[in-house]
Amino acid sequence: MAKLGTLGRSGLIRKTNDGMRLIMTTFVGFLIGFLIGISFPSVNITKLHFPSSIASYNEDKNSGIKTQALLNHAWISTHNNNSLLNSTSTAKIYVSTNPKGAERLPPEIIVPESDFYLRRLWGNPSEDLPFEQKYLVTFTVGYEQKNNIDAAVKKFSGNFTLLLFHYDGRTSEWDEFEWSKRAIHVSARKQTKWWYAKRFLHPDIVAPYEYIFIWDEDLGLEHFNAERYIELVKKHDLEISQPGLEPNNGLTWQMTKRRGDREVHKETEERPGWCTHPHLPPCAAFVEIMAPVFSRNAWKCVWHMIQNDLVHGWGLDFALRKCVEPAHEKIGVVDSQWIVHQVVPSLGNQGQSEKGKAPWEGVRERCRKEWGIFQTRLADAEKAYYKKMGIAPPNATSV
Ligand SMILES: *[C@@H]1O[C@H](CO)[C@@H](O)[C@H](O)[C@H]1NC(C)=O
Ligand SMILES: *[C@@H]1O[C@H](CO)[C@@H](O)[C@H](O)[C@H]1NC(C)=O
Ligand SMILES: *[C@@H]1O[C@H](CO)[C@@H](O)[C@H](O)[C@H]1NC(C)=O
Ligand SMILES: *[C@@H]1O[C@H](CO)[C@@H](O)[C@H](O)[C@H]1NC(C)=O
Repeated sequence: MAKLGTLGRSGLIRKTNDGMRLIMTTFVGFLIGFLIGISFPSVNITKLHFPSSIASYNEDKNSGIKTQALLNHAWISTHNNNSLLNSTSTAKIYVSTNPKGAERLPPEIIVPESDFYLRRLWGNPSEDLPFEQKYLVTFTVGYEQKNNIDAAVKKFSGNFTLLLFHYDGRTSEWDEFEWSKRAIHVSARKQTKWWYAKRFLHPDIVAPYEYIFIWDEDLGLEHFNAERYIELVKKHDLEISQPGLEPNNGLTWQMTKRRGDREVHKETEERPGWCTHPHLPPCAAFVEIMAPVFSRNAWKCVWHMIQNDLVHGWGLDFALRKCVEPAHEKIGVVDSQWIVHQVVPSLGNQGQSEKGKAPWEGVRERCRKEWGIFQTRLADAEKAYYKKMGIAPPNATSV
């Protein structure tokens, strides 16, 4: 965010202003006439009322602001009979089907969704984007992992919008990589992946993307190709997925272990007693939170389940199944595009030493605490719902 701000404010705009001032001054009459000419061809330019002194405008350094004022003045003088600009009649618009809070706007001006497409500061807006990426990948990164991230990013084609969340405050350093210039950089110190996801990946913001990858920084992608992965996810109808994990010390669950003999799998056997039902986590309907991939629709639901204060996301993996139906068919692991969990110390080490404990211990403790809080909240919320509806809770809802 900081980065975008810098670019916009002190960089490009100012330079453009300085360089263009002379030309702007000389051709201001022509420019305005031209703009108005193309915007309202039926208006005769001689009927426009300009402020008396164009001269004062010429001397003004903030020519951008002044141009807006002139255009505004010209528009109002030619449209003062237009009911849209009649303030008393504008107040009459009230469209209850508009987004909440925006009922006073005419529906056709409302833009309820956004994207991460980078635009130009010049030219025709409709020609800004040569094409629109359909997939989004985010990594939550510290600069120390730059080589790993550099390698990982190269596994994602130009069909992916790239968004980096920086937890160490270092953003400009990444510009040594060519791809960094087409990436969006968001910086907030010592925050977690789910903290960023809740704040910057609102479903209405990521609406254009069919699939959203929300990944950690310590993944080895040597045997992974993102385009191929998406093909498989589509073929097997997976709404929530992750690549198979190479079995190593970073492997916790049988479900996410890569199988060498197939494209995807959706269920597994765990250690005896770990699963209450073969269709329930961690035997099915389950992926981990380190490298999940969500369809647009699944993400709409998952985003709403993420709690603002539970930043580590523990327990979320067990609850993902609440968001898709039937979960044991729509959640799965892609075996033939697989990754390695490298288990490097990262954000976990950025905690604070307390009572003689190592920083990572404090973080781990907090993770467990959050897990308990999340389980309780979810169970209470379901209980409250069934009670309110006056129906008996189904047996299999406990997480
Ligand atoms: C606005 O309307 C009045 C009366 O209806 C008319 O005399 C006037 O020319 C109009 N002004 C413009 C700019 O069209
Ligand atoms: C503006 O709205 C008021 C109230 O509806 C109306 O009386 C007036 O004629 C309108 N003026 C124009 C220029 O449309
Ligand atoms: C990007 O997507 C388009 C359309 O789906 C596809 O034809 C193209 O092959 C993709 N690019 C790469 C590098 O896979
Ligand atoms: C649900 O729980 C009740 C009581 O614990 C039990 O009688 C019933 O058989 C259970 N149903 C299923 C489908 O497991």
